Amino acid sequence: MAWLIIILLCLGNSRAQLLDVTNTSYLDFEDRLFGLLVRLQLEKFYDTLLVYGKDCAIPSLFERLQVPAVLVSSGSTNFDWNFSSLTLILSCSFQAEREENYRTLMKLQINRRLILLKGDIRPESVCDFYSRKEQHNIAMVKENFYQFGVVYSCRLFQHQNYEKLNLIDGKSIYIDQFRNMHGSVIRTLTDKKTPRTIPYRDDETGEQKYKGYVAMLINHFVEKVNATIEMQEDLIQEGNLSFVDITDLISKDLLDIGICEARTLKMSNYDSISYPYLMSSYCFMVPMPDEMAFGDVYLAIMAPTVLIMLFVIFCICSVLIIYMKERSWRSLSFSSVLMNDICLRGFLAQPFPFPRQSNRKLKLIFMLVCFSSLISTTMYVAYLQSFMWGLPIEPYLTSFDDWKKSRYKMAINIYEREILESLNVSLEGVEIFQHDDFARLRKSFNTEYLFPVTALQWFTFSEQQKFFSTKMFTYTEDFCLNHFDILSIPIRRHLPYRDIFEEHMLRQKEFGFTKNWIDESFNDMVKANLTSVEDLSPPPKDDTIEVHNLYWAFTMYFVGMGMGLCCFIFELLGPKRYWRN
Ligand SMILES: *[C@@H]1O[C@H](CO)[C@@H](O)[C@H](O)[C@H]1NC(C)=O
Ligand SMILES: *[C@@H]1O[C@H](CO)[C@@H](O)[C@H](O)[C@H]1NC(C)=O
Ligand SMILES: *[C@@H]1O[C@H](CO)[C@@H](O)[C@H](O)[C@H]1NC(C)=O
Ligand SMILES: *[C@@H]1O[C@H](CO)[C@@H](O)[C@H](O)[C@H]1NC(C)=O
Ligand SMILES: *[C@@H]1O[C@H](CO)[C@@H](O)[C@H](O)[C@H]1NC(C)=O
Ligand SMILES: *[C@@H]1O[C@H](CO)[C@@H](O)[C@H](O)[C@H]1NC(C)=O
Repeated sequence: MAWLIIILLCLGNSRAQLLDVTNTSYLDFEDRLFGLLVRLQLEKFYDTLLVYGKDCAIPSLFERLQVPAVLVSSGSTNFDWNFSSLTLILSCSFQAEREENYRTLMKLQINRRLILLKGDIRPESVCDFYSRKEQHNIAMVKENFYQFGVVYSCRLFQHQNYEKLNLIDGKSIYIDQFRNMHGSVIRTLTDKKTPRTIPYRDDETGEQKYKGYVAMLINHFVEKVNATIEMQEDLIQEGNLSFVDITDLISKDLLDIGICEARTLKMSNYDSISYPYLMSSYCFMVPMPDEMAFGDVYLAIMAPTVLIMLFVIFCICSVLIIYMKERSWRSLSFSSVLMNDICLRGFLAQPFPFPRQSNRKLKLIFMLVCFSSLISTTMYVAYLQSFMWGLPIEPYLTSFDDWKKSRYKMAINIYEREILESLNVSLEGVEIFQHDDFARLRKSFNTEYLFPVTALQWFTFSEQQKFFSTKMFTYTEDFCLNHFDILSIPIRRHLPYRDIFEEHMLRQKEFGFTKNWIDESFNDMVKANLTSVEDLSPPPKDDTIEVHNLYWAFTMYFVGMGMGLCCFIFELLGPKRYWRN
């Protein structure tokens, strides 16, 4: 009997509570919602609460939570708000959130949403609704959630699209659904441009596979999230597909991720590209400058300014010697300065008579003559011999102006035309090729042209050049289309796992995988038979020096000898007194 009474009492008590509850006691509801929000904050911190709708916008609740709350009672904003990824969205009822600003939507795509359901709306349809909008972090509670502690959380890749959780169980309400995609499809395409993607056929399975620092990044991602990759070959209309076409397809939401670089030029917004993956410069590979001809070496080292300076020093020494010897300006004349016996011999590094009674000043001048002769003769001998041994090269091209004056043509592909135009470079001397033809021409190391190339692509060319007997091209860091080029991956605007992909990208780079793939890119290309280790450089020139190469040296020699001979003959024939003077 006592038991019965106790049970009845208990029943009465809980009935009273239930009655209390159905009274939609405001205070109680606030308490319970507060408890739920605190619980969610413990699960994962949020720094802002974004509330859509009016019914649950309770000021005292936000005060207790100590989290700033943004109230959107009309359900939509027409402004590009920048919410952090740590924002929790609270919807006071199903479809209270009617956000239409797509940029705000994009930023709030991966945020957690808590929806208070009213009436008998089924969780399935709610999950379906949000799933279609590609918003997947959804949990909902019914109005009476505090009675039973039930939370519904949407789930992807599962037979039932939601999970019924009990708050008391302590299971986490939101999970990272895209960490395991259970084999679902990632739609993609590749432009097969080396070294970013290096297509090869797997020997075992015969399948087409891809290596390279962009393709491997995506291969690893697919493996990490347990997805499968599907090449959307039917989207290719013409046989050749470029990164521009892929970026277009991505911006039309027909692909998820492109295995190529994203086109970043002339974009109104950067919604459909990823965070920058790699940075490099985008400059020109120019043919190695020509060597100077043997015959020109002699003229090249006879710089007029140096000759004039030597001549001035000669004259000064000559004047000083004459003055010091005679201690007067009387014997100073044009011919005695120019034909000064001591100076002439001294400057040609020949022995000359040293006057016996010479004072200190005269000795000092003789020393100067000796030094200048030593320096000038050794300088010219050293120049001549070293230049004959290793011919000097013409200056490198370092600007568009240098290039305009040179004999080279510039080869670019159709997409680089816009860059040149934006740099205000006239297209004279520029040949524009289709994307594939351009790649083929650049691969052939044609030294008629200079080619734009990124530092990353140049790496494979410079590796290939190591197999050549002479270097054919060089990469200029000061002659560029763009000093700071960004390689991003095209990804769909509303890709729900964008954050996971970008985090993956940075982790792979941080771990050193990317560097390794870049370093291996040339080897991989050789293995895939996409490049060769053949020597493409021209056969080495016959670089022996022949007599005709020294034409100018001999000419000068014979002119000098001839002049000496003339002087000698004059000396023999002329009146002796003149010479004695
Ligand atoms: C609900 O409870 C409040 C007190 O918490 C009371 O003032 C109100 O009259 C009740 N409403 C109904 C319909 O019972
Ligand atoms: C949000 O950021 C965008 C640029 O990313 C800017 O145009 C917009 O004005 C910002 N919104 C606010 C409210 O500051
Ligand atoms: C990956 O997805 C497949 C379904 O395609 C599933 O059978 C497998 O268990 C998943 N792997 C893991 C580690 O969950
Ligand atoms: C594809 O290549 C052919 C020949 O190389 C060219 O005529 C055509 O314009 C290219 N199509 C596209 C879309 O680039
Ligand atoms: C572009 O170059 C032309 C001459 O080549 C010059 O007249 C013009 O001012 C330049 N424009 C700009 C914006 O630099
Ligand atoms: C490699 O490619 C060349 C042409 O580019 C071809 O002649 C050769 O047969 C290929 N070698 C292999 C092993 O596929």
